[in-house]
Amino acid sequence: MSAESFDLMVIGGGPAGYVAAIRGGQLGLKTACVESRGTLGGTCLNVGCIPSKALLQSSEAYIEARDHAAEMGVLTGKVGFDLSVMQARKSKVVSTMTRGIEGLFKKNKVTYIRGTGSFKGPQEVEVQGDEGRKVYHAKHVIIATGSAPIELPFAKFDEKYIVSSTGALAFDKVPKHLVVIGGGVIGLELGSVWARLGAKVTVVEAFDEILPMMDGDVIRTMAKVMKKQGMEILTKTKCKEVSRKGAKLTLKADGPDGELEFGCDRVLVAVGRRAYTEGLNLAAIGLETDRSGKVAIDDHFRTAVKGVYAVGDVVRGPMLAHKAEEEGVACVEQICGVSGHVNYEAIPNVVYTWPEVASVGKTTEQCKEEGLAVNIGKFPFAANGRAKANGFTEGFVKVIADAKTDRLLGVHIVGPHASELIGEVAIGFEYKASAEDLARSVHAHPTLSEAIKEACLGVDKRSINI
Ligand code: NAI
Repeated sequence: MSAESFDLMVIGGGPAGYVAAIRGGQLGLKTACVESRGTLGGTCLNVGCIPSKALLQSSEAYIEARDHAAEMGVLTGKVGFDLSVMQARKSKVVSTMTRGIEGLFKKNKVTYIRGTGSFKGPQEVEVQGDEGRKVYHAKHVIIATGSAPIELPFAKFDEKYIVSSTGALAFDKVPKHLVVIGGGVIGLELGSVWARLGAKVTVVEAFDEILPMMDGDVIRTMAKVMKKQGMEILTKTKCKEVSRKGAKLTLKADGPDGELEFGCDRVLVAVGRRAYTEGLNLAAIGLETDRSGKVAIDDHFRTAVKGVYAVGDVVRGPMLAHKAEEEGVACVEQICGVSGHVNYEAIPNVVYTWPEVASVGKTTEQCKEEGLAVNIGKFPFAANGRAKANGFTEGFVKVIADAKTDRLLGVHIVGPHASELIGEVAIGFEYKASAEDLARSVHAHPTLSEAIKEACLGVDKRSINI
């Protein structure tokens, strides 16, 4: 019997893979998506973006009721929280979303194959599933196997005491003292959740600052804000040893003043993620990963093997769900001869702390390094009417524009709902807008988005409200 055949097989059902599969279905390709997790949606939906946002929202609601309701004139009585309800709510959000993708697959005639896919040849994918092994034939194969948390050799994940982001989303009790190794995105987001719920949180960061890749103004503001929210932040401190005796953990680190040793009851290791290609049997098609473990592709998502493509976290570029989705769509469109494209200069970057951080484009430091002449406009939310009325005025919008052409080079927002505000900026970048373009666009009043307009006016030193 000949193998079942598809026009397109996508290995991996995360944001890159499931979106690619749906687009394949839409464009009339006979499409299958192979996923081993048991549920679709990948890291993002199952153990990443969505569950973390559910817990961030619950913990924010708690803080808002506890610390801000009274000043709004809302009398709540004693405010508490029930972690089991928060966790159950999180799980429900996740399962609704992952099942939703199964529905989308049906709607778009995508075959969902449960199991682990590996190459037998460039156009042959073997799937090891519950019912044994089965080989499929595919004209085009997209690798969308994503990424996994980086493990430190001296702090192996047990997902109870020493956890990755996955374990840190599933605590059934609030840790007494959570040490977070890595002051990056995951460290600050999940550190925020547990700090709000009462844990002592210590962030240990090897670099000089937390969020090291961000704009200097953002870094300085966020360091202050996080400390004000109760987080202890140890920068220039490199963790080198974690040991456990029962429920007690001891950490050793090299800090600016020598060796440090301290105890805690949970450790979250958030030192980055690595491309995940285990089990794919890339050797069968003569494909090697690069030195960082990523699958090399050209500008059209093609690997060195004809008919095999790769998208998402497993390839170069930032490990972001929205970047992965866009690549999934563009890759399939290019396979079909439709002009899919990803504009890597217009990818928003968001940290879902409170206030949130969101940016598109270059930092001030990058502009300096590249020798670019720039004009900068900055506007604080403290001078924005809506932020004042809402009662959250922390943060600012910073706009960096080319000094000669006025074209936007970078926009950085620290502030309430920055993740939503950045949408306007991303569109601006997409259309190669100048600061003047955004400054002249009518922004509804009173809205937080007026801070973007004002910062754009500030590029030409003509902000109105400051
Ligand atoms: P990250 O790259 O953001 O931060 C890791 C930090 O760990 C760095 O600042 C690094 O200097 C530090 N570090 C490394 N080794 C260390 C050591 N031994 N001791 C102390 N510090 C050390 O990585 P993170 O937070 O794990 O996130 C992984 C990826 O997941 C990110 O690349 C991000 O793209 C993605 N992600 C995105 C989110 C979003 O868009 N909101 C949310 C969560 C994750």
